[in-house]
Amino acid sequence: MGKTTAGEQQPDLRELAVPAHVAMILDGNGRWAKKRGLPRQMGHKKGCETLEQIIGDAAEIGIRYLTVYAFSTENWRRPEDEVGALMQLFRYYAKRLLKRARENNIRVKMIGERHRFSPDLVEAINMLERETKDNTGMTFIFAVNYGSRDEITRAVRRMVSDCQSGTLSPASITEECVASYLDTAGIPDPDLLIRTSGELRLSNFLLWQLAYAEFYVTDCLWPDFNREELVEAIRHYNKRERRFGGVTAVPNK
Ligand code: FPP
Repeated sequence: MGKTTAGEQQPDLRELAVPAHVAMILDGNGRWAKKRGLPRQMGHKKGCETLEQIIGDAAEIGIRYLTVYAFSTENWRRPEDEVGALMQLFRYYAKRLLKRARENNIRVKMIGERHRFSPDLVEAINMLERETKDNTGMTFIFAVNYGSRDEITRAVRRMVSDCQSGTLSPASITEECVASYLDTAGIPDPDLLIRTSGELRLSNFLLWQLAYAEFYVTDCLWPDFNREELVEAIRHYNKRERRFGGVTAVPNK
């Protein structure tokens, strides 16, 4: 058992069931910067550094899939200079991520509609996926220009088109079939959702996939998030009893 500063006994990471798939809504970059009298962009910069660190921590802890909500379909409505700064950070970190993924056997996948990005960024995304597709360690899923309603709408459009062309029949549309048309096809649903900076909403993130996930919300602002915060979320997850709509608890993975 590990010890908190208050002297209360806390289970050690070794004694905990590690969720196979953790999804995270990264929130609070702007507030972090404001608290320090800095421009919002500085919050995003520190947020990227935190993300780089957390990817490494998550892989080390044994999380198999880590999905982060980095840029939503709604984020384009932000002031032009803020969107521009985020795109610059994306460019810079895509290169660093490729290096880190190669070194640490991490597979990278993007979800969201990538074609709204500039051609160099689309190529960076494609390269990240291509160059890491055979890696067997943690899968890191980056949700960019992602919105769950947009993802479902695109999936429905493709399903209808496949029905019209005869490659899909309406009678064969099951939940598994719908899931296979989503951007997350082949990826198990998240077990745990972490949201930073205290907001209690889903913000159009993985609406289908989070159906049975446990939610953990922390007041910690994203740039301040760290390995200890992640372990704390896993501790909370271990206290939850998951029943998936039934009456008997299913052991945490
Ligand atoms: C939310 O904070 C955060 C974002 C909109 C972007 C966060 C993503 C990263 C830093 C990861 C890297 C991603 C890219 C695309 C480079 P907020 O600005 O909404 O914070 P606030 O609610 O405190 O204003």
